[in-house]
Amino acid sequence: MIALCVFFILCCNLVQGQFPRACVTDQALKSKTCCPPWRDGSPCGSTSGRGKCRDWVVNVELSFIRERQYDDDRLNWPRFYFDKTCECFGNYSGHNCGDCMPGYFGDKCDRKKTVIRKEIRELSFLERKRFFSYLLLAKSTKSKDFVILTTGDRHHKDTYKFVDVTIYNLFSWIHYISIKPILRNGTFDSTTNYAHGGPAFPGWHRLGLFFLERQIQLMTGDEDFALPYYDWRGEENCSICTDDYLGESHGQGFLSKYSHFATWKSICSGYNYDDSYCPGADDENNMQILYRKPGVHPTVRRFPSFKDVEDTLKLTNFDSPPYDRLARRSFRNALEGFLRPDGETLGRSMHNLVHIYFGGTMSEVPISSNDPMFILHHCYIDKIVEVWLTRHNATRDVYPVNDQPGQGPRECSTPYFPCYLNKDLLHRSTKFGYTYSKYQQM
Ligand SMILES: *[C@@H]1O[C@H](CO)[C@@H](O)[C@H](O)[C@H]1NC(C)=O
Ligand SMILES: *[C@@H]1O[C@H](CO)[C@@H](O)[C@H](O)[C@H]1NC(C)=O
Ligand SMILES: *[C@@H]1O[C@H](CO)[C@@H](O)[C@H](O)[C@H]1NC(C)=O
Ligand SMILES: *[C@@H]1O[C@H](CO)[C@@H](O)[C@H](O)[C@H]1NC(C)=O
Repeated sequence: MIALCVFFILCCNLVQGQFPRACVTDQALKSKTCCPPWRDGSPCGSTSGRGKCRDWVVNVELSFIRERQYDDDRLNWPRFYFDKTCECFGNYSGHNCGDCMPGYFGDKCDRKKTVIRKEIRELSFLERKRFFSYLLLAKSTKSKDFVILTTGDRHHKDTYKFVDVTIYNLFSWIHYISIKPILRNGTFDSTTNYAHGGPAFPGWHRLGLFFLERQIQLMTGDEDFALPYYDWRGEENCSICTDDYLGESHGQGFLSKYSHFATWKSICSGYNYDDSYCPGADDENNMQILYRKPGVHPTVRRFPSFKDVEDTLKLTNFDSPPYDRLARRSFRNALEGFLRPDGETLGRSMHNLVHIYFGGTMSEVPISSNDPMFILHHCYIDKIVEVWLTRHNATRDVYPVNDQPGQGPRECSTPYFPCYLNKDLLHRSTKFGYTYSKYQQM
């Protein structure tokens, strides 16, 4: 009973981050301790009762710590880097307990809020301008709190280093690093990764989105800001690929010079090999310009239909064995798009189909998050997850025990930091402080 209580206290009160700047000092890395001081000067705000520094905050069940021939730094996240992290009390959260749990705000984190994510075409002119200007600001504003990891050679720890990054690029990098092949017994295994091809897919992306949403709220002081989504059902062409919205593509796919994102460059682009992490992270000259070629793929020329989404929502199992790209009768696999919405035929659909439809940066999966279209697409995917959870009256217990590395129900969503357990990300979205508009009934 005591163990159970401890679990409930710990399970949901940590806001993710990504290598807190304060935790990549020689001393922090050597002692494997990430308990930065809060404003009151004490680690994890302990003298103010916000939290305390605790050994291995996450209590992963032993059965999920596999005795594997893995030597990947991300496995059993974040234990390769840190054993001690902050445990935050009550509604406090964040790497130093300086922030609130998602859905709470105020100095004492005692005020509850729920922002509404709207369809981008529902936004007023001003709301749209606000969204684009916040994105531009996030693309150019250095993250105060976080740095990212780059390596020359993943086999050699002495080539690991941490560099500055902007807030938007931090978000992009988190997606990129989750996808790198897993180092297993000295070789690279590309058959699986921490964010895709398994039950973690919906929750992992959900966490990425509310991480970005929160970072933007903190950057701007605008607590009401919510990410928009793009409901692409039944769209003949991409109706938001105009300069008033996400930008029009020309010739080689580069965005019109009048679009908001015409000059954006893609972090971690051009390094499409397994043995390092984003070696060009601090070299803007070698990054690709964002590009997009909606609807010109030789075979994928349409978006999923209303019926595709409806059929996907009808699948009653959240996921099913073998819990990977071959799973049939699996809502997760149909949504992710390795399974058709009929639940029986393996083949490209839904989420994957939309990435391919857009071409360009969106179709290069590891770096696809560099295109803001990724946010709009994934927010819609997340809305479908939320509708599924509600319709099937599902709890987080639908999250299955499985063998995908890093995708166990009680493993930390990788590589977020400090930790969210994969299964906890299947709570209803209101628990994370947001909900979806009713646009185009579903
Ligand atoms: C968290 O916030 C809620 C809602 O405002 C409040 O009722 C509750 O007391 C807070 N919890 C703690 C432990 O502060
Ligand atoms: C790991 O690699 C070694 C040497 O290449 C090999 O002998 C061993 O069987 C491998 N183990 C697994 C589990 O693949
Ligand atoms: C969609 O794009 C195609 C090819 O560019 C064009 O022929 C067609 O008229 C467009 N349809 C709509 C509804 O805009
Ligand atoms: C949903 O689940 C809860 C708890 O498991 C149960 O009490 C409730 O009756 C269910 N509602 C529906 C509509 O199935």
